[in-house]
Amino acid sequence: MRIRYGEVEDLEVLTDLWLQYYRDQGSSILDYCVDLGASRERIRNFLSTVLQDERMRLLVAEEGREVIGFLILDTALLSELFSLRYRVGEVVALGVAREWRRRGVGSQLLRSALEYLRRCGCQYVLAEVLEENKPSLNLFRKLGFTLDHRVQVLVRKV
Ligand SMILES: CC(C)(COP(=O)(O)OP(=O)(O)OC[C@H]1O[C@@H](n2cnc3c(N)ncnc32)[C@H](O)[C@@H]1OP(=O)(O)O)[C@@H](O)C(=O)NCCC(=O)NCCS
Repeated sequence: MRIRYGEVEDLEVLTDLWLQYYRDQGSSILDYCVDLGASRERIRNFLSTVLQDERMRLLVAEEGREVIGFLILDTALLSELFSLRYRVGEVVALGVAREWRRRGVGSQLLRSALEYLRRCGCQYVLAEVLEENKPSLNLFRKLGFTLDHRVQVLVRKV
């Protein structure tokens, strides 16, 4: 398996992987409002924007010629709003194809992301993970992440 930067040619398979990632990460904000089936084109456009955004980085894991996982990084979190003492990165999304899980792909993507952030001069990296997403929490903890704070999402009908 090798890790490389994502390219425009990967967009179709990345869209499939992103949809899988989104479904499998657990219940998400406003699931009942999102029409995932009708969102494919938008998600593809979002991923295309990520590829062109210089503060973002999209890594893919490849086995042979098959893309089996991806990770999206923001390398300059909070920098638009705040003057920062330390540069902060964020793991925006991380997904491994279902049939390739539990074989070290997620770990490898995350290690490569940490290496990339180090080279960018980031001193901290954060990730938002749903409390019910034990695979993801275990993975981040295994690679040295610790709990910073919890968030509660509140909603009401207007
Ligand atoms: C979370 C995810 C990326 C993990 O990828 P992966 O390639 O399976 O992870 P790895 O094989 O590198 O596993 C590393 C560690 O993560 C933890 N882990 C992974 N899958 C797990 C599971 N199903 N149950 C419990 N712990 C799990 C374990 O600690 C594991 O180490 P171990 O194998 O030595 O026990 C993958 O399950 C996935 O794509 N899930 C759906 C999308 C998602 O939740 N993304 C993260 C959103 S923040």
